[in-house]
Amino acid sequence: MMRTIEWEDGVVIIIDQTKLPIKFVLLRMKKCSEVASAIKHMKLRGAPLIGVAAAYGLALTAFHSKAEEREDLLKEIDESAVVLRETRPTAVNLFWAIDRIVGKARATPGEAMNVAKIVVAEAQRMANEDVEVNCKMGEHGSRLIEDGDGVLTHCNAGSLATVDYGTALGVVRAAWNQGKKIRVFAAETRPRLQGARLTAYELKRDCIPVTLITDTMVGHVMSRQLVNKVVVGADRIVRDAVINKIGTYNVAVLAHEHGIPFYVAAPISTMDLSHTSGEAVIEERNPEEVTNVRSIRIAPEGIEVMNPAFDFTPMKYVSAIITEKGVFSPEDLKTVHKDLKRQD
Ligand code: MRU
Repeated sequence: MMRTIEWEDGVVIIIDQTKLPIKFVLLRMKKCSEVASAIKHMKLRGAPLIGVAAAYGLALTAFHSKAEEREDLLKEIDESAVVLRETRPTAVNLFWAIDRIVGKARATPGEAMNVAKIVVAEAQRMANEDVEVNCKMGEHGSRLIEDGDGVLTHCNAGSLATVDYGTALGVVRAAWNQGKKIRVFAAETRPRLQGARLTAYELKRDCIPVTLITDTMVGHVMSRQLVNKVVVGADRIVRDAVINKIGTYNVAVLAHEHGIPFYVAAPISTMDLSHTSGEAVIEERNPEEVTNVRSIRIAPEGIEVMNPAFDFTPMKYVSAIITEKGVFSPEDLKTVHKDLKRQD
């Protein structure tokens, strides 16, 4: 099985996730603008993968640039960065990755060719790091999972949302590989159906027991005691809340009501602890995602709709945050966060 994103000599190859699970289609991109469009139209998605894709987008700009002067290349990279920043506003990994590549390019001395080489190497390093970080998260998080658990997850925080292995599903994967007999309950995740299309697909592919439910069944499966842990990913963790796929907040409140631990698995690159929820931008997507199911219209013409892609789960509902550096309570994370970032 290939990684979700690959670099092959000036070409970025991704799985077109809008086609899954019906078709497995690879897309080959040579321009940063194509990567930006793929992010915007969710051909690839998931906070860590969006970050790595942006890094590879800038690597494409550098690799194919005809600039001879260093300053000219830096200008081209800056222009590509502007386009990438406009794609999706919520997942902080996008901005973290762009800043890291732009910073690396600026700090690299020498001619344009040397800068380009370093930029490509840095993007590749980020892709490899993502897999390592997910495996570490899996190792730490798997200690919270016991034999016989029913684990509910929302959206797709799996290998498809990362370069490989996954955040929330990385925890599941690690527990499963340790021989713990668990079952995942995947909430379908209206309107884009990442749970039904992607989580169900990748767990089934990897032979990890999974039951697909609609979002409206979450309370029911909890009250029937089919689920005793929740593990989700995150797009941005601010001081007072976890920002993740729309519907995560419902799951957290229901978990609280049923006394079920609610865990968030996210890398340090998803932390934005210098901001609060009031300062975060929630992406508002096309109303057709709500009025239509795939291409079939289900709502009356002219109806007003809302379509926020993410919601806020207040920290009081979060039992623990699983990172590559260990498992933290939300309170502890705030105090150790600066040290963790510095160690990077
Ligand atoms: O809109 P998406 O599909 O990009 O949203 C993805 C999520 O909300 C995931 O839960 C989050 O990015 C964590 S993925 C490891």
